[in-house]
Amino acid sequence: LKVDVNNEITTIQPTMYGVFFEDINFAADGGLYAEMIKNRSFEFDNPLMGWIQPNSDRHSLNKGSGIATPVKYSGSNTNHNYCRVNIKDDKGYTLINEGYRGMGIKKEAKYNLTLLASQVSGNINKIIFQFIDKDKNVLGETSVAITGNNWKEYETQLIATKTEAKAQLKVTFEGRGEINLDMISLFPQDTWKGRKRGLRKDIVQLLYDLKPGFLRFPGGCIVEGRTLAKRYQWKKTVGPVKDREILINRWNTEFNHRLTPDYFQSFGIGFFEYFQLSEDLGAEPLPILSCGMACQFNTGELVPMEDLDPYIQDALDLIEFANGSTETPWGKMRSQMGHPAPFNMKYIGVGNEQWGPEYIKRYKAFAQAIKEKYPEIIIVSGSGPFPDGDYFEYGMEELKKLNAEIIDEHYYRSPEWFRENATRYDDYDRNGPKIFAGEYAAQSVAIASPDNKNNWECALSEAAFMTGLERNAEVVHLTSYAPLLAHEEGWQWTPDLIWFNNLESYGTPNYYVQKLFSTNKGTHLITVTENGTPLTGQQNLYASAVKDIAKKEIILKLVNTSAGSQRILLDIKDNKMVKKAEIIVLKNDNLSAENSFSTPAKISPEVKKIKLKKGNTQITVEGYSLTIVKMKI
Ligand code: AHR
Repeated sequence: LKVDVNNEITTIQPTMYGVFFEDINFAADGGLYAEMIKNRSFEFDNPLMGWIQPNSDRHSLNKGSGIATPVKYSGSNTNHNYCRVNIKDDKGYTLINEGYRGMGIKKEAKYNLTLLASQVSGNINKIIFQFIDKDKNVLGETSVAITGNNWKEYETQLIATKTEAKAQLKVTFEGRGEINLDMISLFPQDTWKGRKRGLRKDIVQLLYDLKPGFLRFPGGCIVEGRTLAKRYQWKKTVGPVKDREILINRWNTEFNHRLTPDYFQSFGIGFFEYFQLSEDLGAEPLPILSCGMACQFNTGELVPMEDLDPYIQDALDLIEFANGSTETPWGKMRSQMGHPAPFNMKYIGVGNEQWGPEYIKRYKAFAQAIKEKYPEIIIVSGSGPFPDGDYFEYGMEELKKLNAEIIDEHYYRSPEWFRENATRYDDYDRNGPKIFAGEYAAQSVAIASPDNKNNWECALSEAAFMTGLERNAEVVHLTSYAPLLAHEEGWQWTPDLIWFNNLESYGTPNYYVQKLFSTNKGTHLITVTENGTPLTGQQNLYASAVKDIAKKEIILKLVNTSAGSQRILLDIKDNKMVKKAEIIVLKNDNLSAENSFSTPAKISPEVKKIKLKKGNTQITVEGYSLTIVKMKI
C-alpha cells in the first residue's frame, strides 16, 4: 500500500463526524434528560398516566382513603392541568410515580425533588416522599412541610440507601383535606456539569467521548410530526420549563411491535439546551426545522405555499435566538435563559427527510428568505429517505440547479450494501452541493426490524463504508449514524448507537467505529493506494488515510472484512519522517458478536505500540477488524 504523505487532496471538515439526536427510543424524556418522574405536570393525554392511582386495580393501598383528580387550569395556555388530591381519612393516602420503566437510583446518591403545591382546604401540612422497591421496601425518604394556600415551590432531597434499577416514588400525605399539586420533579444531583435539572452524566460523557463535529437536533421524524399541528415548534421549547407545552411524541404508538403509549415530549430539553449541549460537546449546532410538510410516511399534510410565512419566520427567528445581539427580541430571550453570548450557529436544516416537488418549492422559499437576511448561514436541504427512492434523483438534480449547499442523504441498508457502497461518492461532482450523510446504519435483518442487532458485522461494514466517506471528504462534509440513543425497555427502532437503562449505558461496536473515525479524523486527506487504485474492497480490504497537521500524525484506517489476517506492506512516502507508531484495533472473530449491559466493552478498541522500520514496513491486519495505524511524523 502506498501512502502518499505529501499528496494532500483536501481538508477534512471539522464537522466530518457528528451526532444526530432525535427523541426516539426515550432518548430525551426517560433518557438524556435526567427527569425521573413520568408525567410530572399531569399533561399527558391521560393526565394521571404514570401515577399509580388509588382505587385502581393495580393498587389497592388507598381504597376509600382519598382520590387524585386532574383539574383543567385556565391560568396557563401551556401548562393546562394540575392534580387535586382529596384526602378523606388518616390511613395514609398515597400516590406512586412509576418513572420511565422505573427509576434508577444509586446507593448514597442524592436526588433533588421539587414541586408546586397549594393547600385548598383542611390540614394537609406534610408530604412524605419515599423511594420504594417492588416489595414496597423504603430506599430513602424525605418530606416537605406545606404552608399556605397559594401556589409555592417546595424543594427537598432524597438520599438513596440502596442501588435499585426499578425504584418508584411514593408520595404520602399527612392530614385530611384537599391539596393541589403540579410539576412534581425529581433529578439526580449529579448531572452533566452539575446543572440543576440537567442531563444524564453517563450518556453525555459517551457523546463527549465521540468528539462530535456537530450535533444535529431535534430529529428525525419528530421535526415533521404526523400532522402539522404536531410538528416540533422550537419556540414552544424555550423559556421557563414549566411553561413548555407538552406534545405527544411522534413515536408514541405501536411501531414495529413496540408499544409506547406513554411517550410524550416534555421539552425539558428544548432548543436552548440543545445549543448548550452543542457548546459543551465542542460541536457545531445543526438545528433542523419543519418546512411545512408533515411526515410523508404518515399524513403528508402540506401547509399551502401562501401560508408558509410563519414557518419561514420561525427559521429567521431561530437564527436571531442563536446568534442575535441581546438587544433583539430573541437574542434577549437567549440572554435571559443564561447565555448572553451568541451560540455562533452556522448551519440550519430546512425539513427533515422530505422529497418531491412540494419539498423543492418550500425549500426554495426558505432558502431565499434565509439568504436574504443571513447570507452567511449554510442551509442543509433534504434528499428524501433513501438513495434509491422515487424522488432521489429528481431532488438531487433540482437542488443542484438551485445551488444548494449541503444535501442530507439517509440510508438504512443491509451490511452488504454498506460494503458494496464504499465507492458511493467517488463520482459525485466535486463542484456540486456538498453531502451530509445525515442518517445511516447497517440493518442486520431489514429496515427498523425489531430483530436488527448492533452486531460486529454491521459495525465492520459501516467502517468499510466510512473509509469511502473519508476518501471523498472533498464532497462529504458531515456524517452521522442514526438513531443515536435507545432505552433498553422503551425503544421503537433498532439498531441504535448507544443503549441505556435507568442506571447504565454502553456503546455498541458501531459506537466504537464512529469514535475511532471521529477521534482520528485528521486535518487533511492524503492518498493510500494499491497499484494506483484506492482500496474499496479488493481482497476484502478498505482503506483511507489522513494527515493531522496539528498533531503531526499520519493516520491510516484499514478495514479487513475477511476472516483471516492479511499482511500489508506499507510504503510510506516519505517514510524517513515516520518516528513511532501506534496501532488501534477493533475486532472480533464472530460477526454476530455484540456489546451488552453485562459485557459493554466486549468489542472495544485495543491499543498497541509498534516500531516501524525505515523503508517498507509490514503490518498485519487481523481478520474482521478495523485497524487504525497512527504514525508520528
Ligand atoms: O432515525 C429514525 C428515523 O428514520 C428518523 O426519524 C427519520 O428521519 C428516518 O426515517
